[in-house]
Amino acid sequence: MTRTVYVNGEYLPETEAKVSIFDRGFLFADAVYEVTSVLDGKLIDFEGHAVRLERSLNELDMQSACTKEELLGIHRKLVELNEIEEGLVYLQVSRGSDGDRDFVFPSEDTKPTLVLFTQNKPGLANSPAAQKGAKVISIDDIRWGRRDIKTVQLLYPSMGKMMAKAAGADDAWLVEDGYVTEGTSNNAYYVKDGKIITRPLSNDILHGITRKAVLRLAEEAQMTIEERLFTIDEAKEADEAFTTSASAFVMPVVEIDGAQLGDGTPGPIAKRLREIYLEEARAKAI
Ligand code: PDD
Repeated sequence: MTRTVYVNGEYLPETEAKVSIFDRGFLFADAVYEVTSVLDGKLIDFEGHAVRLERSLNELDMQSACTKEELLGIHRKLVELNEIEEGLVYLQVSRGSDGDRDFVFPSEDTKPTLVLFTQNKPGLANSPAAQKGAKVISIDDIRWGRRDIKTVQLLYPSMGKMMAKAAGADDAWLVEDGYVTEGTSNNAYYVKDGKIITRPLSNDILHGITRKAVLRLAEEAQMTIEERLFTIDEAKEADEAFTTSASAFVMPVVEIDGAQLGDGTPGPIAKRLREIYLEEARAKAI
């Protein structure tokens, strides 16, 4: 089945979809994005992603390409046309193109470019990777200072995944001034003596939509949460660890820089949070 994608108002086979070579997303990474997961053919926390998208656009003085209601309609139509039961919807808005390359932003009447496509991922919720748990390495965080804005500047996170792969691991945690910021494409947590420790929100990390839901669920389940800076050495001494993201939900971490956590299998808190997150996500999906 050929995938149908959305580009600036049109639903097209992916082979026919086109964006200008002068698009600022392509030339300057002048674009923001969102990834929303799909379970049982329904969108998980669409509202959270739509609100964060609006914030990213505002922070960069970028125009919205359409209303929240229109965006919901596009998401739903793509899920339906591509028969996605489990998977992801990727959305990207760029500052568009005024037909040349110029560092200066184009005038206000330049239309943003809006692209959406789906990724079919059967078994996303029941993932073997989550049953095994992830091995992570630590690397320097050399990204720019506005990581709270979800831009498409993903070269360094991509390089981080390659460094992890080269080291025989699954992912990398980023470290700045001695403290863990987040994972390459997820928020990072460790658990010690029943306490969940994670970095507080600031411009240093993405304000994860999954993070918000998982911390609320942890609190409702009477778990103790400490939002504070933490080092890799602390995390290596943890009983367990995990990451959160829209694409992997709650992913247990079983090894950090070669140090095994607990018995080297997913810990009970990560497993429980994954379970209750998925349960609520399915119940509230639209
Ligand atoms: N990444 N931190 C970073 C750097 C991220 O790229 C992501 C998401 C998160 C988690 O945010 P959320 O829970 O809202 O997905 C944290 C997406 C999934 C991606 O780039 O594919």
